[in-house]
Formats: sequence, structure tokens, C-alpha cells
Amino acid sequence: MFLEVLRQVTRSAPPAPPRRMAKVLNIASGKGGTGKSIVASNLAVLRAQAGERVCLVDFDAGMANAHLLLGLVPRYDLGHVLDGQVSAPFALVDGPAGIKLLSGGVGRAALQNPTPRELDRLFGALAALESQFDLVIVDHGAGMGIATVAHVAAARSLLLVTTHEVTSLSDAYALYKHAMSVAPDLRTGVVMNRAPDESSARAAFDRFEGVARRHVGKVPEWVGWVPSDEAVLKSVQARGPLVLREPHAPAALRLQSVARWEAIDLAPVARGFYETARRALR
Ligand SMILES: Nc1ncnc2c1ncn2[C@@H]1O[C@H](COP(=O)(O)OP(=O)(O)OP(=O)(O)O)[C@@H](O)[C@H]1O
Ligand SMILES: [Mg+2]
Repeated sequence: MFLEVLRQVTRSAPPAPPRRMAKVLNIASGKGGTGKSIVASNLAVLRAQAGERVCLVDFDAGMANAHLLLGLVPRYDLGHVLDGQVSAPFALVDGPAGIKLLSGGVGRAALQNPTPRELDRLFGALAALESQFDLVIVDHGAGMGIATVAHVAAARSLLLVTTHEVTSLSDAYALYKHAMSVAPDLRTGVVMNRAPDESSARAAFDRFEGVARRHVGKVPEWVGWVPSDEAVLKSVQARGPLVLREPHAPAALRLQSVARWEAIDLAPVARGFYETARRALR
């Protein structure tokens, strides 16, 4: 009898509304110092200004610096979340334009080389962010460490930041190739940062594209270019995002177009980003 009632209730109950999950944008590079954190922090602000609830996660864990670019002094970071001292939402700090930052922490050895088990724990904790934000932007460390590989395996989009220099391009290509082997359907976009002008940026992208077509059988998308701009250096010194300090500076205008990359708006995988990343670790 009870079972029959239960069956009827289940049958007639309206389907549960789908839980809204954040979109997750990963920002990575092959070589270090190409401008990932500049792009990530400014994109976070631009998307927040456009009305989204944005969380920036500094996954350059152990060598974090996004908080410096945003002029913040976080009390907690990913290390505290990993240790279980605080929850991920509690570790967030308020940033400019309403963004929230989860800092990566500085000088934390455990975070620089996490074990799969530690990452699993961290991803389990970060899943709490997915229902609170529209967009999570993950600023990675350079290269394809285990954390970046696990993120890439769960991602729908990956933004590669490179400069037009041959060393940076070659490392970006290596990362692209690796990412494609982990996640063949990943939408990968390229931003040419610190370029002298658009034609050098385009020429560098064309070379990248040619090599990728020949050796990977796939090509990344052109997302845009950002000029080498004195205003960026000034914003770093002033510890405030360029797009707020000097929204009309040449680099700020180009960053606005990067923030409109359509692959950022792809819905996350059905199971949710962090649950998928956890499965990728197994
Ligand atoms: N478009 C630009 N114009 C001028 N300077 C720039 C530009 N982009 C980045 N820079 C400079 O390069 C420095 C490094 O940038 P950023 O910290 O974003 O690199 P990163 O890729 O995150 O480095 P890491 O690999 O160490 O995390 C900045 O502090 C800034 O001085
Ligand atoms: Mg960085």
C-alpha cells in the first residue's frame, strides 16, 4: 500500500527543476608569464560588469598572484579548503565589480604537486561553487600539470594565452596537442597577448594553426589579440584591473572582445564540472 502511494506520488510529482550549474572557463598556457592572470582577472571583471555572478579561482596553486593583480589580501586560500579548515564558499574574498576570488595561496608545497587524492578532495569541495555562480574562471599555472589535465578533461572550453614569440608558441602548441588527446571535443581558443600589432598576432596564429592542422588534425579558434600596452604594466603596479582603471586603453578594448568568445557560454557537462573532473582522476 505504502509502496503504491509512493509510486503514485513519484509518478505525479513534477520533475525537479534542473539545478543551475556554473559555466567553467579554463585559462592556461604552455610557457609561464604569457599573461594568463592578466587575461583571467580582467575577463572576470568584464563578465561581472555584464551581469554575471563570477568566481575567479586561482589554480596556480602555491604560486598564486591573482590576488595581487586585484589588490586583495585573502585570508583563506585553496590550501585551507584542501585541509578542510574552511568550505570553498567561505574561502572566497570580495573583489572589484562584485567578483569573488578563491586565492591559490603562496608557498604551499602540497598545492604545487597535489596527489590525485588531494585533487579529488579539492574538486569535491569546489563543487559547492557551481550552484552559486554563473561563471567560474580558472586561472591555471603554466603547462599541463595533473590539476590542469583534470580540469581539461571536464571542460567544454579552454582559452590558451600565448605571445607571438616562437618559444611561447611552441609551448602553447604542445599544450594544445596534450589537451586534444585528453579531451578531443574541447573548444580551444587562442589569445595572442603582448603583440606589437594585429598582423603579427594573426601571422603567429596562422603558424600555430598550420602546425596543428598537420600534426593534430584539428585547429584551435582565433579568439583575439591583446597589444603590448603600458597601461597593463601600470595596472599591475597599481593592483587594480586594467578594464576598471583604464577601460579605453588599447589592451582593455581588446580584452572586451576576448570576453565575448562564444565558447565561454557553452553549458557545462550534465554531471557538473567538478564531478566530471573527479571522475577523470580515477
Ligand atoms: N598585454 C600586455 N601588455 C604589457 N604587459 C603585459 C601584458 N600582459 C601581461 N603583461 C605583463 O606580464 C606580466 C605577467 O603576466 P601574468 O601574470 O598575467 O602572466 P601569467 O601567464 O599569469 O604568468 P604565470 O605563468 O607566472 O602565472 C604582467 O605582470 C605584466 O607585467
Ligand atoms: Mg598567472
